[in-house]
Amino acid sequence: MKHGISALGLALPSRYLDVRDLATLRGVEPDKYTKGLGCHEIALCGPDEDAASLGAKAARRALERWGGDLGRIGLLAVGTETGADMSRPMSAFVADHLKLRGRMRSYEAKHACYGGTVALRQALEWRASGAHRGRAALVVATDVGLYAPADPGEATQGAGAVAFVLDDDALVASIDLESHAFASPAFDFWRPVGERFPRVEGPLSLDCYREAVEKTFGGWAGESSVQDALATLEAVAFHVPFPKMVKKAVLHLGATQGWDEGDTATFFETKVAPTMRWNRHMGNSYTAALWWSVACALVGRKPGDALGAFSYGSGFGSELSILRAGEAAAEALWQKDVEADLSARVRMDAAEYDAWRGSV
Ligand code: HMG
Repeated sequence: MKHGISALGLALPSRYLDVRDLATLRGVEPDKYTKGLGCHEIALCGPDEDAASLGAKAARRALERWGGDLGRIGLLAVGTETGADMSRPMSAFVADHLKLRGRMRSYEAKHACYGGTVALRQALEWRASGAHRGRAALVVATDVGLYAPADPGEATQGAGAVAFVLDDDALVASIDLESHAFASPAFDFWRPVGERFPRVEGPLSLDCYREAVEKTFGGWAGESSVQDALATLEAVAFHVPFPKMVKKAVLHLGATQGWDEGDTATFFETKVAPTMRWNRHMGNSYTAALWWSVACALVGRKPGDALGAFSYGSGFGSELSILRAGEAAAEALWQKDVEADLSARVRMDAAEYDAWRGSV
């Protein structure tokens, strides 16, 4: 049996800021944000929105597409680093919104931006183990990523959620049970208990991400070359803290593997850059960022097309998963979520954003 995603839903909050307006507010040259970091828009929450409500919005969309009986959900796992409570799991907050209760395992997975992948892979392994006894899993990755006002990371902020239902058909995509992980403890980005905003060692965080890419892809390729292994994939989605980070990581991979510069550029332009189309409207949604990129990469794919999904979370841990498009990728109904949320959201100007930051 194929194991993987039966239904998928996405969600964005109701407001956004153009990074050029942020640049004006902070007295920064706009090109630093748009060209230097590759950022465009920052998704922001309205007064009634938070990580739990965003996760529930994505979950409702995934559940509606799945169409099954809620009583068949036997596992609810939520990956997030926007912790609402030190003890009560985010899954309980999401379940409150969904009015979901019953004979199920419900928990939160935390490992910075890698937490969504941990939740998804654990649910996949639960399904593959047979422990599910015919029941489906609901997996949510949701975050609201804010830095302190005027922090160097402010232009990379974002918010968003993704939800998956894992059941018997893997209509959206199957996921290989074998995956390739790499972890190395670091303080590159962290948020001490009780602190509102993260602390970041910017240059170290870039080095850790690059090292994770090098070690994870190297481990996956094994005896063959990384370039040959990548040739088997139609697209490769990465965790997107900001789009330029992904380009830096690909350049690093090419350099350490001794690729021709033209080959590296072609790989990035054809197989990686197109996956970040939706991320540019959202910013860094932490646990959801990679899976938005995967959702974008799946659109219009033929059944069986293989994609890579590189997950990175500060601290740091990384994992490469291989997905194969299912029949629902051709129509990709989750595109409607992006279209609906982008057309409904309201742009904040610099003054509104500045006033709002005073309150969060
Ligand atoms: P900074 O240090 O202020 O920026 O913040 P900079 O001085 O390094 O400039 C950035 C780029 O803009 C440079 O390009 C400049 O040259 C360029 P590069 O040399 O790197 O190619 N630039 C310009 N370009 C055009 N026109 C101009 C101009 N001026 C400058 N006028 C930093 C950058 C990344 C440190 C900051 O944004 C930050 O702290 N971000 C948060 C940390 C982060 O995202 N790290 C990424 C890896 S860690 C990760 O992915 C995990 C994470 O998602 C969290 C989790 O796991 O939970 C963050």
